[in-house]
Amino acid sequence: MDLYEYQAKDLFARHGVPVLPGTVVTTPEDASAAAEQLGGTVVVKAQVKTGGRGKAGGVKLAKTPDETRARASDILGLDIKGHTVRKVLVTPASDIAEEYYFSFLLDRANRNFLAMASVEGGMEIEEVAATKPEALAKIAIDPLAGVDLAKAREIVAAARFPAEVADQIAETIVKLWETFVREDATLVEINPLVRDPEDRVLALDGKVTLDDNADFRHADHAELVDIDAENPLEAAAKAKGLNYVKLDGQVGIIGNGAGLVMSTLDVVAYAGEEFGGVKPANFLDIGGGASAEVMANGLHVILGDEDVRSVFVNVFGGITACDQVATGIVQALRILGDEATKPLVVRLDGNNVDEGRRILAEANHPLVTMVDTMDGAARKAAELAAAN
Ligand SMILES: Nc1ncnc2c1ncn2[C@@H]1O[C@H](COP(=O)(O)OP(=O)(O)OP(=O)(O)O)[C@@H](O)[C@H]1O
Ligand SMILES: [Mg+2]
Repeated sequence: MDLYEYQAKDLFARHGVPVLPGTVVTTPEDASAAAEQLGGTVVVKAQVKTGGRGKAGGVKLAKTPDETRARASDILGLDIKGHTVRKVLVTPASDIAEEYYFSFLLDRANRNFLAMASVEGGMEIEEVAATKPEALAKIAIDPLAGVDLAKAREIVAAARFPAEVADQIAETIVKLWETFVREDATLVEINPLVRDPEDRVLALDGKVTLDDNADFRHADHAELVDIDAENPLEAAAKAKGLNYVKLDGQVGIIGNGAGLVMSTLDVVAYAGEEFGGVKPANFLDIGGGASAEVMANGLHVILGDEDVRSVFVNVFGGITACDQVATGIVQALRILGDEATKPLVVRLDGNNVDEGRRILAEANHPLVTMVDTMDGAARKAAELAAAN
């Protein structure tokens, strides 16, 4: 899960990383009141889970509460790279002498953690990496050794942070490492980490990605989920324990096994090119034991997607044999009743396939078409989606 800037900075503050206070608001009036409370010049910052807010007009200075109201009104509702701004952070404006970059992240390729640091902060780090790679220090972190003050000093030296702030930055790096480990993050990033004219070091921005696999040991992370911003179909699927991801196509997909579902998406996208660019509408893996209930839950979510024109059920019978899956589909359609309104293309193969196909043929449901091959079924589902 990615966090908003204000949530990231709350976590930073909890672990002793220096940040400025701030108030998150959803209306221009509340923004003005927040500015009144803080006093002095403030910055109004769009809270969206994407980068480049500054460039998109989502970060603005305001000298007075009235000006804050006006800037908040400009920013609220703004579309930044497909994200609508619903919240802004009002925070004191800081005088900036220099802007740096710092992050810890999971380095999947090297099965390690990585620290990245640069005295060229503020701008997009991808740009620094591309145009001035020598300005971006990358230091591998041994997961067992972690980051103590000595390691932090090594990082500070590698990045060539100025001597005046070296100690403060080293201490901040240790605290950021604590945030990374204790919160089970896969990314913590500060851009910019600033030095003010009095040589104080501050995190003016924050980006954090938490590892959802560790949710079980962080009861408090549940509050960080922004229910309003979550896709309602994904939320419904999550509530039913389904492994579902909404995509932007028209063919609903259900399969058993993540690998099979991934390849089904490819095959449908490929087949869809012939029918005016029809695409898969979702990823849904119903896993091994596809009971009628799980099948019904899966179909319920997919049929609730207004974009869906047809559904492709692609099942390879293994431990759960095809006859059980076929029975599951028939029962699921019975459970759904009138709710099932879109054509279903079913491809069954594997363990006990003949019996599975017999059960579906016997049920003879008007919405169901059986196709024996994966390619053929994908083509049929794309064709039905285009026609519907
Ligand atoms: N509190 C503040 N006081 C003064 N200047 C600020 C403050 N917050 C941000 N800025 C300035 O605005 C720039 C952009 O802010 P920030 O880094 O938070 O957004 P962004 O980089 O556009 O967003 P993202 O990091 O998501 O791409 C900073 O580099 C900094 O120069
Ligand atoms: Mg930034």
